[in-house]
Amino acid sequence: MKFFSNGLKDNPYKFDGLTGKTDAIQQVFKLIEQVARTNVTVLLLGESGTGKELVSRSIHARSARAKKPFIAVNMGAISPELVISELFGHEKGAYTGAHERKEGRFERANGGTLFMDEISTMDQRTQISLLRVLESRHIHPVGARNSIPVDVRVIGATNKDLLELVKEGQFREDLYYRFNVVTLNIPPLRERKEDIPIIANEYLRIYGKTYKKKFKPLSEEIYTRLINYHWPGNVRELKNVIHRAVVLCEDGNITARHFPGRIINEDDDNSAYMRIKVGSSLKEVEKTLIKETLFHFNGNKQETAKALKISRKSLYNKIKEHALDDMLH
Ligand SMILES: Nc1ncnc2c1ncn2[C@@H]1O[C@H](COP(=O)(O)OP(=O)(O)OP(=O)(O)O)[C@@H](O)[C@H]1O
Ligand SMILES: [Mg+2]
Repeated sequence: MKFFSNGLKDNPYKFDGLTGKTDAIQQVFKLIEQVARTNVTVLLLGESGTGKELVSRSIHARSARAKKPFIAVNMGAISPELVISELFGHEKGAYTGAHERKEGRFERANGGTLFMDEISTMDQRTQISLLRVLESRHIHPVGARNSIPVDVRVIGATNKDLLELVKEGQFREDLYYRFNVVTLNIPPLRERKEDIPIIANEYLRIYGKTYKKKFKPLSEEIYTRLINYHWPGNVRELKNVIHRAVVLCEDGNITARHFPGRIINEDDDNSAYMRIKVGSSLKEVEKTLIKETLFHFNGNKQETAKALKISRKSLYNKIKEHALDDMLH
């Protein structure tokens, strides 16, 4: 029997807590390995729920800093009045209510990694202070006489188009380039659909274990639905949807009814609809349906007949019968 010292090696689709087989995500795995060996500042770009925090934890865990702290700070969740002392700390008595010296996040992350989420929300003052710290590698706690050196790898993340914010003057260009030494783009889940089934199965396994439930494999129909859905909440949404299905399913057979309507009822992208007035005659409905189907297939009679499940000959007859010839020219 063969043992792997690193449990990841036997499954190339798993990388720390991340799962994925598409080139897009495999490329992310590779970049994580490359940047983990260095101390460069990293910028993570990706929609909400694409795994930015997970990626930053992975970079930290694979770096020489792994035994030192990983500190996360959500810039969007700190009020502008507190942000400077939150990041850089303050001395005792620095201002009213500062009864004790407080370590800032940078100091707490010393030797390790500071993950700064939602960096696009920083105001101008904070941006300037941060730029100074990134350039000098020193922090200046509020009320302190001297600045102190810090050795911190910074990873910034945003789900906004940062370059656009630079153009609008909302985000400093010099700070953008400070962050942007290496940019890691995590594509939305709908752009890497091949990852959907394996991520779904991974969470089926994980939640199955949590709830001590066993399941039959998902049906083709469920896979198709999961793949066709556009996942605005990305992997977080998929994870939650599988969690929900595991909780709701009692007999080991996960079916459509265990999924939210938004996923099961979503139509194929190119579906078209027509409105029919209740009270129309069958003949009128037939005429409208044929007309709309012809429109939908740009007048292609073969496709139209196929969709209506009638022969080409019947379609020709009906076109004549309903006087639809005109619209075909
Ligand atoms: N490739 C993946 N495989 C498995 N799970 C993933 C993957 N990507 C993300 N997740 C899971 O999805 C959830 C959201 O991930 P994470 O918090 O890292 O996203 P985020 O990009 O930081 O989101 P936000 O912008 O909302 O903060 C987490 O529970 C994480 O475990
Ligand atoms: Mg996050």
